Amino acid sequence: MENADKQEEDQQQQRQQLQQEVKLRQVDWDRDFPQLLAIERQSFRSPWDSRKFAVYSSLPKNRALVAELTGQEGIVGYMLYELQATSSNYLGSSTHIAHIAVDPRHRRLGIGRLMIGAVTRSDAVTLYARRSNTDAQRLYVSLGFYIHNIVTAHYSDGEDAVLMRWGQEGPYAMQ
Ligand SMILES: CC(C)(COP(=O)(O)OP(=O)(O)OC[C@H]1O[C@@H](n2cnc3c(N)ncnc32)[C@H](O)[C@@H]1OP(=O)(O)O)[C@@H](O)C(=O)NCCC(=O)NCCS
Repeated sequence: MENADKQEEDQQQQRQQLQQEVKLRQVDWDRDFPQLLAIERQSFRSPWDSRKFAVYSSLPKNRALVAELTGQEGIVGYMLYELQATSSNYLGSSTHIAHIAVDPRHRRLGIGRLMIGAVTRSDAVTLYARRSNTDAQRLYVSLGFYIHNIVTAHYSDGEDAVLMRWGQEGPYAMQ
């Protein structure tokens, strides 16, 4: 029991220290892309290829945030997000998170949470998660996201998506 407490305390310290060392910035596609692609390939069942990233980065509303650790070469995570036009039934700024991934060696240290925190300053944030990706859904729920809808066969392999939403006004803002 004492060992388990010590382990948890050590992990907590490690997280706090790491969060102080994480720096978030906008992507530099030339410099960051090789590492971003490597993390993408380790993180998704159907990773995007270079061509898809080229199209993504060419669209003016698309952004990419990267996380790096001080004193360490390269990035350890990234988040692709789109600034969305306001819809007729919703006035305010809205962000859609297209991809978020953290290097497997640096997961469960709060980096994903920090990156999402950078966009919850807009009025609303949406994202799709695979129905089976309960780990990621846990992260979003811990940040106040809720399930807005289930989209049948959203992914190319037929899996359903869970459309999740976060809003300044809370879960019923769009209803
Ligand atoms: C999802 C992902 C981005 C999370 O990044 P991360 O930096 O590890 O997340 P955090 O450390 O900020 O986690 C915050 C919370 O999310 C939940 N969570 C994250 N990963 C989890 C896991 N593997 N199992 C259970 N809960 C998890 C926990 O509530 C966690 O808080 P805790 O560690 O205090 O319990 C990362 O696991 C990843 O890159 N996965 C592969 C790609 C992917 O699935 N992206 C999401 C597509 S929708």
